[in-house]
Amino acid sequence: MSVNTLDPLREKIQQKTVVAGVIGLGYVGLPLSLSFLRKGIRVTGFDLDSEKVEKLGRGESYIKHIGNEELSVFVEQGSFQATTDFGRLQHSDVFVICVPTPLTSTREPDLKFVVATAGTIDSSGEYDLPGNDHRGALADS
Ligand SMILES: NC(=O)c1ccc[n+]([C@@H]2O[C@H](COP(=O)([O-])OP(=O)(O)OC[C@H]3O[C@@H](n4cnc5c(N)ncnc54)[C@H](O)[C@@H]3O)[C@@H](O)[C@H]2O)c1
Repeated sequence: MSVNTLDPLREKIQQKTVVAGVIGLGYVGLPLSLSFLRKGIRVTGFDLDSEKVEKLGRGESYIKHIGNEELSVFVEQGSFQATTDFGRLQHSDVFVICVPTPLTSTREPDLKFVVATAGTIDSSGEYDLPGNDHRGALADS
């Protein structure tokens, strides 16, 4: 029987024990987090903006179409945690990068925030969850 290197991750997804790390909690990252949470997948959200993180910790949304009521439930049950502590990246199994990609003067997307985030993930320390030697990252842009 052949063993696929993604099998441990697939199993975690099926068993809903996977932790999704969403990096950048703006107009893409916060609704995406809600989509995971509604499917029963735990999310740790990362952002540099401490005001946003504090609001989310109180169950307060800053995006019009996301209601506080639903967000608060996930915060209270602990399935959604927002943080500025990028050391906690090591607890996530998959990452979705949702940081800005502003246009440069030549109207090319500036990928410096994406590249910096990839570096942060790479240096996020020892993996401390069983099976975390198989992790995945996506960039949403
Ligand atoms: N908004 C849209 O409709 C839309 C549609 C398609 C694609 N996108 C793409 O999705 C990406 C995110 O867009 P958005 O609209 O959500 O942006 P946004 O500005 O609303 O949110 C980005 C968030 O990332 C945070 N951030 C910035 N640098 C960071 C870093 N190094 N680490 C962690 N957090 C960081 C910011 O504080 C902010 O909360 C961009 O590449 C954008 O082009 C956006």
